[in-house]
Amino acid sequence: MNLQQIRSDTPLTASTIYLDTAAASLPPDPVLEVVRQYLLDTGHKGIYQPGFRRETYARVESVRAQLAELIEAGPDEIAFTKNGSEAISLIAQAIPWQPGDEVLVADTEMLSNLLPWKRLEQQRQIRVKMVPSDAQGRLHAEAFAAAIGPRTRLLTFSHLPNSTGAVQPAADLCAVARRHGVLSLVNASQSLGLLPTSVRQLDCDFLCACGRKGLRATEGSGFLFARAQHLPRLEPALVGWWNGVYDRATGALSLQPSARRFEAGCPNVPAILGLGAALDYLQAIGIAAVHARLQALTAHAVARLSALPGLTIYGPLQPGQRLGIVPFNIQGIAPEHLVERLAAQGCVIEAGAFMADAILARHGVDTMARLSLHYFNTDDEIDRCASLLDACR
Ligand SMILES: Cc1ncc(COP(=O)(O)O)c(C=O)c1O
Repeated sequence: MNLQQIRSDTPLTASTIYLDTAAASLPPDPVLEVVRQYLLDTGHKGIYQPGFRRETYARVESVRAQLAELIEAGPDEIAFTKNGSEAISLIAQAIPWQPGDEVLVADTEMLSNLLPWKRLEQQRQIRVKMVPSDAQGRLHAEAFAAAIGPRTRLLTFSHLPNSTGAVQPAADLCAVARRHGVLSLVNASQSLGLLPTSVRQLDCDFLCACGRKGLRATEGSGFLFARAQHLPRLEPALVGWWNGVYDRATGALSLQPSARRFEAGCPNVPAILGLGAALDYLQAIGIAAVHARLQALTAHAVARLSALPGLTIYGPLQPGQRLGIVPFNIQGIAPEHLVERLAAQGCVIEAGAFMADAILARHGVDTMARLSLHYFNTDDEIDRCASLLDACR
């Protein structure tokens, strides 16, 4: 990994210690350049100039193929969305539920993977059952197996929850689902781009992610993977010219057979092309190298922070069981205060409840601070952040 090149592609790193990838990462300049160039071309070449439009749609489809390759899916199993929440909501609304069906949701989930299911309780009379993680925020296959009942249709969890950073045993949890004939949805919003991820190895039915975190794409990018065999029975909530076919003579309405059936209208081309550039950038570095570097940085961050008096780290204690995300509190100091103090010194971290109240309640706190890493960060930046935190006490 050429860290010098990577940091020069990420110019803010020259002046700022950016430790908030879990909210959104810094897109590298080659990604921003592709988006900027496309937007200029829309005006300068003519957005619907036929040759340019054809080329644009071909590029959109090649990003779909790139995404499919990244997660070992088929291109027909990928739908572009504008974020992770939309992908989860789309799949929640598309499944043909029966009243009394049950969905198992890990208690690690933030609102985006809870509300779509809670809403179905009201709309379609399904039941949502929460499956508890352990004291360190880790999920266990046994807990899901114990919660499965005769009406359970789907289970869902985050591969990497935003409030703990625990790397969950995703393949084991999906295997439980498969054994019991239950569908599985992996929320990969935090993990994709940090962890090697294959839907074949996970053997999941659905996977959702956004582009602006681990993948370092821009806002407005995300996607849904839906296993091909399920597509004919999935009814998208949104329909329009891009995903629907209508015969005015007969009134027959049909949908794209592929996962494109979830994309109702004009695709968000700038974000999709930016996502393609981000995938190129990731591929040039290699996901295995990214993962290894994040593991090392995470271990360093945990070691440095846990050495600070009065600082409590939440989530798994073993460095190997967490990745990138390190939530913490310093006794007697409001985490929002830490964020302000560090921001004034050019170090960006975050504080809040992270929309994951169940996990915070487990730790008996209302808010926590959180630093989150990507491969462009360095041990020196972590050391500097630790010193700044120490000075806040
Ligand atoms: C675990 C998790 N799931 C889902 C989402 C939602 O993603 P988006 O903001 O792209 O809708 C987030 C975003 O913070 C997240 O951390």
